[in-house]
Amino acid sequence: MRKTTRAAVAVLAAAALLSIGAQPVQAGGAHGKKQTLRSAAPRDLRIGTAVAGGGHHVDQPYPDPFPNDKQYRAVLAHEFNSASPENQMKWEFIHPERDRYNFGPADAIVKFARKHGQAVRGHTLLWHSQNPAWLEQGTFTKAELRSILKKHIFTVVGRYRGQIHQWDVANEIFDGNGAYRQENIWIRELGPEIVADAFRWAHQADPKAQLFLNDYGVEWPGVKVDAYEALARQLLADRVPLHGFASQAHLSMRYGAPDQLQSVLQRFDDLGLYTAVTELDVRMDLPEGGVPTEEQLATQARYYTTTLNACLAVDDCNSFTLWGFTDKYSWVPVFFPAEGAATVMWDDFGRKPAYYALRDALAAAR
Ligand code: G3I
Repeated sequence: MRKTTRAAVAVLAAAALLSIGAQPVQAGGAHGKKQTLRSAAPRDLRIGTAVAGGGHHVDQPYPDPFPNDKQYRAVLAHEFNSASPENQMKWEFIHPERDRYNFGPADAIVKFARKHGQAVRGHTLLWHSQNPAWLEQGTFTKAELRSILKKHIFTVVGRYRGQIHQWDVANEIFDGNGAYRQENIWIRELGPEIVADAFRWAHQADPKAQLFLNDYGVEWPGVKVDAYEALARQLLADRVPLHGFASQAHLSMRYGAPDQLQSVLQRFDDLGLYTAVTELDVRMDLPEGGVPTEEQLATQARYYTTTLNACLAVDDCNSFTLWGFTDKYSWVPVFFPAEGAATVMWDDFGRKPAYYALRDALAAAR
């Protein structure tokens, strides 16, 4: 797929402004205070969030967020121009029985996104986790499994054809040693070649969607990044429709800022791929009382902007997504009991330093 580079978009945007005699809105100018993340962002960068629902929310003492929380939806529409269903397009959610799909919640997100001028990132088609019991515990021949995956991809990707900006086709397929995860039913039963087939089928079902490899633990160079680079090179050599590589970026302040992310993304940009940050959050150890210190919030803001600046510095890093924007619905405290406060807004949607730091960095890059 041909890429339009950030530099080219900037030239086109400047030419368009000149031709209508308009002036670009300056960061911190008259409109500065009213800016949102999406309005501050450069034109060629989508600013996204996960759309809360399903998954860990099911066991929480609140109703499913996206359909039930009006304030949440208002902030989602106002601040972001890309939306990633957090759980609603995963196999167990959208395909709960072999002959039954549950499209309602995903349809609602896609409809909302269209209404509010948002792109949608589809998540995900080939993963080891959150698969339905009928699939994981079923007894199938290899031919049946292959046909189940193919049919699922054609059905789900086909349903949203033309409405999905990017699909996370293959999610978390390598372990920390850069080996294919054997707990991934598709890879274990059908071999790693199935990854290429998943990309081919997704491309046939929606030729305009950008198709991504997506994983965590790829924010620093290492064997996992090496494995992805080798795979990407092979897929491209085999003319498989791979268009992008994404870093999820679930960061913890225990492990340091992602100061090498730019160089990682650049390696994939150099292959001619788009890159993206798809699930950013920055968790921290909460002090007694549960309220982060000012110093912690400042460090968190720095991690957020280091991640954003890495993306901004790489020409074809074209989407930057937070894994939720309010602590109210974050997955972090559910998975990491001692940690939390990982998003850019408090429970009441009040903005943290990380929010303002991101907005300023976006405005400065415009
Ligand atoms: O499997 C159990 C099931 O047996 C039980 O009936 C059900 C209800 O209690 O819970 C099920 O597990 C839940 C699972 O979602 C499946 O619905 C977990 O408790 C729950 O914590 C889990 O949460 C989701 C998680 O993915 C699963 O891996 C989160 O909501 C979601 O935010 C998170 O998102 C992932 C991305 O998709 C991929 N990258 C990492 C990211 C964070 O983990």
